[in-house]
Amino acid sequence: MSATFALLHPPASPLPPFLSFSRVSHFHSPPPLSTADFWRLTSRRSVPISKTSISTMTNDEENAGTVKKQLSKLFEQSLRITVPSESDVEPLIAACAPKFGDYQCNNAMGLWSRIKNKKDNGFKGPPTIGKVIMENLPPTEMIEKCTLAGPGFVNIKLSTSWIAKNIQKMLIIGIETWAPRLPIKRAVVDFSSPNIAKEMHVGHLRSTIIGDTLARMLEFSNVDVLRRNHVGDWGTQFGMLIEFLFDKFPNWEHASAQAIGDLQEFYKASKKRFDEDPAFKGRAQQAVVRLQGGETSYRRAWAQICEISRNEFNKVYQRLGVQLEEKGESFYNPYIPGVIEQLSNQGLVEESQGARVIHIEGVNIPLIVVKSDGGYNYASTDMAALWYRLNEEKAEWIIYVTDVGQQQHFEMVFSAAKLAGWLPANDNMYPKASHVGFGLVLGEDGKRFRTRNTEVVRLVDLLDEAKNRSKSVLIERGKAAEWTEQELEHTAEAVGYGAVKYADLKNNRLTNYTFNFDQMLNDKGNTAVYLLYAHARICSIIRKSGKDIDELKKTGVLTLDHDDERGLGLHLLQFSEVVEEACTNLLPNVLCEYLYNLSENFTKFYSNCQVVGSAEETSRLLLCEATAVVMRKCFHLLGITPVYKI
Ligand code: ARG
Repeated sequence: MSATFALLHPPASPLPPFLSFSRVSHFHSPPPLSTADFWRLTSRRSVPISKTSISTMTNDEENAGTVKKQLSKLFEQSLRITVPSESDVEPLIAACAPKFGDYQCNNAMGLWSRIKNKKDNGFKGPPTIGKVIMENLPPTEMIEKCTLAGPGFVNIKLSTSWIAKNIQKMLIIGIETWAPRLPIKRAVVDFSSPNIAKEMHVGHLRSTIIGDTLARMLEFSNVDVLRRNHVGDWGTQFGMLIEFLFDKFPNWEHASAQAIGDLQEFYKASKKRFDEDPAFKGRAQQAVVRLQGGETSYRRAWAQICEISRNEFNKVYQRLGVQLEEKGESFYNPYIPGVIEQLSNQGLVEESQGARVIHIEGVNIPLIVVKSDGGYNYASTDMAALWYRLNEEKAEWIIYVTDVGQQQHFEMVFSAAKLAGWLPANDNMYPKASHVGFGLVLGEDGKRFRTRNTEVVRLVDLLDEAKNRSKSVLIERGKAAEWTEQELEHTAEAVGYGAVKYADLKNNRLTNYTFNFDQMLNDKGNTAVYLLYAHARICSIIRKSGKDIDELKKTGVLTLDHDDERGLGLHLLQFSEVVEEACTNLLPNVLCEYLYNLSENFTKFYSNCQVVGSAEETSRLLLCEATAVVMRKCFHLLGITPVYKI
């Protein structure tokens, strides 16, 4: 544990007051199950489902957590009795193919290999272990029956009325009760993070979309999320930009953003000048020194350039409905010297060809924290930012969303932080830092995505095109006559932006994907358009029934007698564990897959079970409503605005 307390040793020279190393890092693993929880479960008896028991139910500890977690608790209890000698064995519970059951407990085989050589272990092989695991299960209303299969799998069939009861409970108390529980209170999601005066390219769009979804999933799980825009707002390029601004606009303080115009063009022109004009280059280099020295006019010019960029970025964020708080590279600047001093005092920083570096075992290049000219770089800033997030912001999970090209950089930063004792060596413990890498966006030609005339795709144009295309389709379908202009606009935006987001999120983020408007705006197949329409259709079924759904929630009872009702119900109930998995493994595509399967399950149900006018109308309308509620929550987590009419 000694590394844990490295932060407690004060650095040799005094640090600025903001660098107080007072925090003791308490590394923690996810909280273990309390025995009280366990034993409470044993005393639970099956209660017949009644309306009063549903409406008075709260999200109490007793049946908290995902289905998987609740089953794990039950099987853990059984395991402790079945094999008391193996007290560290964790229950292995997984959802399974419908032909076997709903879930499976897969502990028997592993247990057998652990105990087979122990004398008098009392078992003949995995099947007998499986059988006894089944017998030792505490009584529960959750499970209808268990059966033994193959070499010792325990197949679990959940009680249908228990599934129905939980769905109805969610309808009454709200989907928030299905929020996963994560073992952390605060996280930083560092995403989007474009560079001032440079283009915000599709890579930043991916980071924005993926990062926003991760933040939304964590927020839904009751984690306090600091959404950080780590913009590149510091560095030598600013000397060149400021000098160019002074030259081109002597009256720059009063020049409007429009006059300065397109910052990317401005950047290009100043770079050209920098490369071609040695006198200008000299002045630009001087300007960096003056900016860093804090000279007022240089600071002001810098702030103005940042402001113009910020306004551009905000247009994209606004369209996408993404919230971000900017804490750019410059913010961490004052923290760098203290942090490097600290690392040096720990003996981690070495001299190498004039630079100061941290060597990371197993990596052939060192992490440069001070350049040979004495300046700081991307890595110095990231070390200071990580320090700040852990110690000042007290974040327990710090998530960085960038393209896979930066993976090595982050791995080195995290390794250095482990060496310094800021992070535990064990990746399963908190505080934790994770890099969320993603692949490239490709054009039809299989190369990096670009448009015909510009080198990079302007994000705003791209979003406009998605919206315009979806608007044309709506107009073709006669909606301009049916809807108000506002409804038309709103739906076109929801569908267009939703399509761009979903096309990105549905892929495993590590793979490259091809950007194709026709594909993403197709109303068939695995697209946002198809899913949004599916949701609108469910809403229209409910509307057309003429029933007051809020009233039905209070007075009606949901049952799942038909196989396809049960299948849909079970899928709904698995929402919580899917979000938990998507969150813990930082994989939004897991949630997309769930959403797509949800709509498939709904279609199956709707084709085989008559809703309106049937004897089961009330129950089936409630099932429709539950599906719509879960779909909307999925949309919300994916940053997609649901539509109610098509
Ligand atoms: N500005 C960087 C880029 O455009 C991304 C920053 C990511 N965050 C970080 N803490 N390094 O590549």
